[in-house]
Amino acid sequence: MICNKKRHLGQRLASGIVLASAVALLSACDGGVEQPGSSSATAVSSAPVVSSSVAISSSAAPVVSSSSVIIPSSSSVASSSESGNVNTIILQENQAGFCAVDGTIDSNNMGFSGDGFANTDNAEGQSISWQVNAQTSGPATLEFRFANGGDPRSGDLSVNSGANGTQPVTLANTGGWTDWATESVTVDLVQGLNNIKVTATSDQGLANIDSLTVTGAGVSAGDCGGVASSSAMQSSSSASGSVGVGEPPAQCEAMGWATRKGRSSTPFNVTGGGNAQPIIVKSFADLSKYAGDGSPRVIYIDGTLGGGWSGRSGDRLIVKSNKTIIGMRPGTQLKAPIQIKDASNVIIKNIVIKGPGSSSDQAWDNIVIEGASKNIWVDHSEFWNGQDGNADVVKGADNVTFTWNIFGYTNNGGHNFSNLVASSDNEPQSVGKLNITLMFNHFRGVAQRQPRCRFGDIHVVNNLFTKDGMASDNGISAGKQCRVLVENNHFIGIKHPVHKRSGGKSELRGMNIFENTSGDTAGNGGPAFEPPYEYKSLLVPASQVKGLLQGKVGATLSSPSACE
Ligand code: GCU
Ligand code: CA
Ligand code: CA
Repeated sequence: MICNKKRHLGQRLASGIVLASAVALLSACDGGVEQPGSSSATAVSSAPVVSSSVAISSSAAPVVSSSSVIIPSSSSVASSSESGNVNTIILQENQAGFCAVDGTIDSNNMGFSGDGFANTDNAEGQSISWQVNAQTSGPATLEFRFANGGDPRSGDLSVNSGANGTQPVTLANTGGWTDWATESVTVDLVQGLNNIKVTATSDQGLANIDSLTVTGAGVSAGDCGGVASSSAMQSSSSASGSVGVGEPPAQCEAMGWATRKGRSSTPFNVTGGGNAQPIIVKSFADLSKYAGDGSPRVIYIDGTLGGGWSGRSGDRLIVKSNKTIIGMRPGTQLKAPIQIKDASNVIIKNIVIKGPGSSSDQAWDNIVIEGASKNIWVDHSEFWNGQDGNADVVKGADNVTFTWNIFGYTNNGGHNFSNLVASSDNEPQSVGKLNITLMFNHFRGVAQRQPRCRFGDIHVVNNLFTKDGMASDNGISAGKQCRVLVENNHFIGIKHPVHKRSGGKSELRGMNIFENTSGDTAGNGGPAFEPPYEYKSLLVPASQVKGLLQGKVGATLSSPSACE
């Protein structure tokens, strides 16, 4: 569930629950102080107690100013009676309106405009897609700027998957890969969103396409989200121009695989310690005591706790079921790795764990989720320089979501292998499990395992990968029986960003940006799987991931109740 303010507020008021609850929920979603009665995942039933048993008195309920109840308005599409003026837009790779290429965005052949051009893999069925919002239905001209140094490349041009027509296009030889020409066609657009796609019908793929220029009645770039209109349907989703495009709502609750039971679509509500009275801990001993006991706990970490570790000795935090553990301030450091073993319904937030630096020792991972663990949400945390891994999920664990985390290395330790999913091909307890969602994370300076997986259905969506001057061997790597859905990510400088490895599958969806990367970008081919949970309301185009994560990824939460 996502912190959708409009929906929650409406439900709460309609169901007659006192306004204070709605106020508390809103303030939690806005990053304010959470108040008694909130039902969000990190709910607080009353003022926190300090573990040394000094109670903090409850602060007054926040005053609701009208400005704190900002309900994003859904942008409305002009009515059909209003005839739009004809205008022209140019859609470029890496910008709004350009959705996906089965291949890469390249810049090696000169003469392009914008950042480069879309280069499909050279095979039949490879496609490039765009999205256009039209104010009224009617004809529009599409002009493709392209280069082709080979034989003519043919394709099928479809609008809204053929609902609004399909026609053949041929992109002739232009004289060379640096010689650019244009080809124009006329299509019928419907009012609202239109998905435009060219799919190669010859085995050489398409020509390289530099840009698509659209001329029509009130056309604007779509954001590649939402559902395309059909001629029978009114457009309901927003396109470009509306406030907040690329700004998903504050995420106060878990999303993704953590919110499901097993591999099914049956929902699970990740609450952690739920409504337990928060406990503020100021020592590692207290933290360990509460994190490892049998009661639901909401634990706030006050200060830098733990005495450090190396290899498999030193402090280690063992977390059991029904726990919410949150760093009280931005950058709250835990000098101990976390083990979540045979535990369910756990939320970890706003914590920084810095390992001793990578080595080939069989050392503790910065965080490991293993055994019969399930429904685990790790959010707004940082895992640096893990000695073995930064964040491994192994040995039968299931239903794990990582959002807004940094997985990073700052030295070339020779084992900068960040996120391992299953540690062996011989792990029978993991078959059908290890279902993991990774959304809005930043992988930094990781050489391998971003993630490297076996057995699981892994959704890697809206993440940023940067090399940070470190060695890069490969990125996402699907091994034995692993299926990875790679959607709208931005890879910068990574070698083999979607690594070809036998035994697994990786499907590219939406548009992934491969910037200054080398090697494999297509993985093992799909299809992977359909995520059974809602995430599209959070999804942004790959071109917005870098900006979105800036200042928001990692242990940046200003208070235990903040969501962003
Ligand atoms: C060349 C060219 C690519 C092009 C490819 C092709 O390698 O540099 O940009 O896409 O041929 O045949 O499609
Ligand atoms: Ca090509
Ligand atoms: Ca271009």
